[in-house]
Amino acid sequence: MSQTWVAIGDLTDIPILGARCVKNGDMTIAVFRTTDDQVFAVEDKCPHKNGPLSQGIVHDNCVTCPLHNWVISLETGQAQGADEGQVRSFPVKMDGETILLGLR
Ligand code: FES
Repeated sequence: MSQTWVAIGDLTDIPILGARCVKNGDMTIAVFRTTDDQVFAVEDKCPHKNGPLSQGIVHDNCVTCPLHNWVISLETGQAQGADEGQVRSFPVKMDGETILLGLR
């Protein structure tokens, strides 16, 4: 299937080190902004026990899950350290200030 790029808002809609949730059918996607204005999108569902990653703490290019502190890479969706698991991640690109989310 081909990828569809969907405009989901502007960079300034997301606070630095914060996240915004976007619905895609039944799925919630958390879109994060880092201190250096990189934007990452992963499913809002921790690979451990489905914690809401959008409410976690962003640091470097990772988020720490608010429930049991697993650290998830926003680039790959992989759990870091000794924890094993992966959350689905989505490509993001910018069109000026507009964030485009790659869905398929
Ligand atoms: S649900 Fe995320 S660390 Fe447990």
